[in-house]
Amino acid sequence: MSVANEVQEFDVVIIGGGPGGYAAALYGAAAGLNIAIVERDKVGGTCLHRGCVPAKEFLETAHVRRTVEHSSQFGIDTKDVTVDFSVSQARKNEVVDRLFKGLSGLLKGRKVTVFSGTGQLGKDLTVSVLDGADSGVVAKGKNVILAAGSVPRTIPGFDIDGKIVVTSDEFLDLKVLPERATVIGGGAIGCEFASLLSDMGSSVTILEALPSILVGCDTEVASVVARSFKKRGIDIQTGVKITGHKPKKGATTIDIEGGEGVEADMVVMSVGRRPRSEGLVAEGTGVVIDDRGFVVADGYMRTAAPNVFAVGDVVAGTPQLAHVGFAEAIVTIKTILGEPVVPVDYDRVPWAIYSNPEVAFVGLTEASAKEKGYDVVVKKDPFGGNSRAQIIGDTEGVVKIIAEKRADGSGGQILGVHMAGPWVTEQLGAGYYAVNWEATAEEAAALIQPHPSLSETFGETLLALAGRGLHIG
Ligand code: NAI
Repeated sequence: MSVANEVQEFDVVIIGGGPGGYAAALYGAAAGLNIAIVERDKVGGTCLHRGCVPAKEFLETAHVRRTVEHSSQFGIDTKDVTVDFSVSQARKNEVVDRLFKGLSGLLKGRKVTVFSGTGQLGKDLTVSVLDGADSGVVAKGKNVILAAGSVPRTIPGFDIDGKIVVTSDEFLDLKVLPERATVIGGGAIGCEFASLLSDMGSSVTILEALPSILVGCDTEVASVVARSFKKRGIDIQTGVKITGHKPKKGATTIDIEGGEGVEADMVVMSVGRRPRSEGLVAEGTGVVIDDRGFVVADGYMRTAAPNVFAVGDVVAGTPQLAHVGFAEAIVTIKTILGEPVVPVDYDRVPWAIYSNPEVAFVGLTEASAKEKGYDVVVKKDPFGGNSRAQIIGDTEGVVKIIAEKRADGSGGQILGVHMAGPWVTEQLGAGYYAVNWEATAEEAAALIQPHPSLSETFGETLLALAGRGLHIG
């Protein structure tokens, strides 16, 4: 809280308190910098309040339901399973609240000043608080970081009403799930929501404009998810052109060019996110914003304006992932401190999609490796033969590793690791290190995986890639 119209000075002023902004604040404060964040809502941002964290809580609810439904296989009888989604909603709020309090405490402990309101960058590295409890405050930084994040997009003809047409913002506040849901967009968000809705008993249709869901993932990994979704009754329609919808009595019919209308009680819009950059910078700051509204920054997160940086979803041409925001925040603070720093290698960041089955990957897909001209060798091991997967009763999925081909046909440097299946989001770490430390198949295969564990499938794939596997050729 502060007095209006008085210019307050800081080493760093950050606009936006989401993962990019709060990571910069915590990392910078740990280095002794005097930091202010201007946040219009709550620190934690989309990720904590309307994104990653709540979505994963609901996906965990779906996981618990599946476990309970299959418990008789283990001799545990749980008759009459009932679902009260409002309890999951309340639990999600408790989890979010605890994390919010933890984060607020951390910021306070490191003496980060948090101004409440919408920040706008003006000339001479000043940030004005335009509204909210600290309206009128002007904070001047030796450096400013733009970390304003992103908001869901929608498509023409689909106004978000929070009842029939929702985005992740509204979806994550639902107390009751729809009977019939149509998810528009089969990317990461669409697949996570489709998966949880289906596992929670809704009938689900995915409408995707491109020829397949999860474009960007390795095609075999995307196929594992598509097959699993279809088996569970999710209707996946790809290559569709949606022309509009006709709401009627608490439901709607979505019109598809050349196809039949799809009826739904709720439309979940997941067609990507746009940067929240309107009004973020005043005229004449020198910051360049591209024609799609993203802030242009270089590998050191420097915008075109001296001492103005940008991190997170608002940055042009980088993956919209919380952990990428964290990494960019660290790069920014080290750059400010004049320390040696390596820019984020965006082609080798970890990706994790928490659908059932989960997807996790890093590095080049088979197709992108070939496109780049690599002669590759590829090995795959399905989870079906993995003892731990059989023990937990979840054998759907595969590990696929792509490596440069050596003269003897075995795998050289590991270029990409792609996984679909049980808990792969927790297993990707080893693959991430292998790709980023530029390990060869032989080097990585020499390392031991515990037995029995799901990660043995990764180890087995590496052995095969190095020339000789225990179970696969
Ligand atoms: P996305 O860009 O990943 O996927 C959007 C999908 O919608 C694309 O497949 C696109 O072809 C499709 N689409 C676009 N317009 C359409 C139309 N008119 N009709 C039908 N389909 C259409 O965006 P998404 O899933 O909304 O996620 C936003 C961002 O958040 C992404 O960068 C994503 O990677 C990130 N994210 C990552 C998560 C994770 O890694 N677990 C979870 C949630 C979000």
